[in-house]
Amino acid sequence: MFNKQNSDVMDPESVQNASQKTSTKANEIRPTGNQLSLDDHEIIVSKTDLTGKIKYVNDTFIRISGYSEVEMMGVQHNVVRHPDMPRAIFHLLWERLGRGKHVFVYLINLSKNGDHYWVMAHICPSFDAAGSVVGYHSSRRKPDMKIVNDTIIPLYKQLSDIETAETSKKAGLEKSADAFDKIFRAEGVKYNEFILSL
Ligand SMILES: Cc1cc2nc3c(=O)[nH]c(=O)nc-3n(C[C@H](O)[C@H](O)[C@H](O)COP(=O)(O)O)c2cc1C
Repeated sequence: MFNKQNSDVMDPESVQNASQKTSTKANEIRPTGNQLSLDDHEIIVSKTDLTGKIKYVNDTFIRISGYSEVEMMGVQHNVVRHPDMPRAIFHLLWERLGRGKHVFVYLINLSKNGDHYWVMAHICPSFDAAGSVVGYHSSRRKPDMKIVNDTIIPLYKQLSDIETAETSKKAGLEKSADAFDKIFRAEGVKYNEFILSL
């Protein structure tokens, strides 16, 4: 299933496992329900190593996340994970990155104090001069909140419900990933095209 295009690209499972090695405080933060918003011109930027450990954050990320640059350096990017994000979306994200592909993704992120903010993220592999993947970078903008409210929130709820209905996490993820796959394939498009067509 996994077609390795570049010998330096980690396979999706190794990348996903690596990304789960470091536990974060995000699991312990209780969402406040208070929504923050980016200004139209603002872009959140971060860079990670191959396992998703943060190596760079810009000032906008520092401001909206509530973490200092020092607090974010070297920690897993799931430090900003919000519990409403379905696991299937991250599975797809890492599966694509592991194949050296870029990905567009709507994300709800959690700030240090439990507030949240929606973004439209573009996450890409970073290549060195020899063409090897050396890490990943992401830029995120304020999304169209009509798309978030009308389509993404119901979609993510549907996927999360599938995931939590199963007693086994693995089975939940498989069912949810399969359901999502069917949704965009029914439109006759690939994942990125589906997201950009919303
Ligand atoms: C460059 C890059 C940016 C990422 N940005 C986010 C983000 O903004 N929010 C998020 O929840 N996960 C982001 N992730 C995915 C996380 O690494 C992680 O897979 C996700 O939070 C799920 O974590 P979990 O599997 O430990 O639950 C990003 C990953 C990469 C490589």
